[in-house]
Amino acid sequence: MCNHCVPAIDPAAAEVFGQKMLEVLNGGALSLMISLGHRTGLFDAMHGMEPATSSGIAERAGLNERYVREWLGAMVTGGIVLYDAPTRMYRLPAEHGEFLARNGASHMAGSLQFFAVLAGVEDRIVDCFREGGGVHYTEFPRFHEVMAEESAVTVAGALEEFVLPLEPGLIEQLAGGMDVLDVGCGSGLAMITLAERFPASRFLGIDFSEEAIGRARAEAARRGLRNVAFEIGDAARIDRPAQFDLVTAFDAIHDQRDPAAVLRQIREALRPGGLFLMQDIAASSQLENNMERPMAPFLFAISTMHCMTVSLAAGGAGLGTCWGEELALQMLGEAGFGQSRMESLPHDIMNSWYLSRAV
Ligand SMILES: C[S@@+](CC[C@H](N)C(=O)[O-])C[C@H]1O[C@@H](n2cnc3c(N)ncnc32)[C@H](O)[C@@H]1O
Repeated sequence: MCNHCVPAIDPAAAEVFGQKMLEVLNGGALSLMISLGHRTGLFDAMHGMEPATSSGIAERAGLNERYVREWLGAMVTGGIVLYDAPTRMYRLPAEHGEFLARNGASHMAGSLQFFAVLAGVEDRIVDCFREGGGVHYTEFPRFHEVMAEESAVTVAGALEEFVLPLEPGLIEQLAGGMDVLDVGCGSGLAMITLAERFPASRFLGIDFSEEAIGRARAEAARRGLRNVAFEIGDAARIDRPAQFDLVTAFDAIHDQRDPAAVLRQIREALRPGGLFLMQDIAASSQLENNMERPMAPFLFAISTMHCMTVSLAAGGAGLGTCWGEELALQMLGEAGFGQSRMESLPHDIMNSWYLSRAV
């Protein structure tokens, strides 16, 4: 084909793609509106509420009616809230509320806050496309706050029911007393939850973010816990050989500057026979195998605008969110772990769970 020729267009394919673009446009807009509904408490106010006018909803949520009415416009036309025109009443169906309200059984609305977090660094990412390099963790607005909300659902809130039963006998061992390290602990909720539940065990969380460690320490102090500590430190320099029976890393390996060194340090930090429990993104290392993954575009977007770029910002490997299960298992082996087992959990379709023993 010549350089200036316009390629032949299949009108049917163009029509289908045009529809897709419309869905993307409206989906993007609804993502931001849902994030707003979450942050302002509107979904919490409306979940289980009788049909109400915009004034009634605004009053219950303690918000400005004009903004609430405009937001409701997006919710109604987006198929999230039902509207009865003659009475001007709005209703959030219970089935929708379960995904949107904080106490909903299938809560997802909190995750939609990530779009605004990512948009906060869009200009910097555009620069990186041109010049390379990356955007550092500290440049993301509200990252640790939103991350803590996310892992409160996928990790801390699921420890007892889903995560700990992955390893037979682990609950009993924790009850008896174990030394536990959480690498890249963020705001520390997983260790805090375990420390409260297993007073005979000792827990340590490390993270290089002062903000995250400050949040973790404040929450542990608020709960009066004496068996959990948090330290600012680099996961690539744990330097505590054979001091732990269990090491965890929740969504904290793929965005490392030097993930191979971190995995080696984790293996060295374990006592012989100790267990490494790693939660990381469910994806294949081969792009073509991710076509059926329900969240794949979201994961690559998070990677481009956060996980990959924070690693590149530090001159790191830039593995990316979708480094994938094949590479993860290979790197666990290279770090000196024996056979690793990979599991999926029903509450967490975004992640795979790896269990590896130090030999
Ligand atoms: C995606 S967040 C997950 C946080 C937490 N595990 C959770 O589930 O909420 C990754 C965490 O790893 C931390 N981190 C990244 N690289 C690190 C490094 N080299 N040393 C220590 N912490 C690191 C970040 O500050 C961040 O808190």
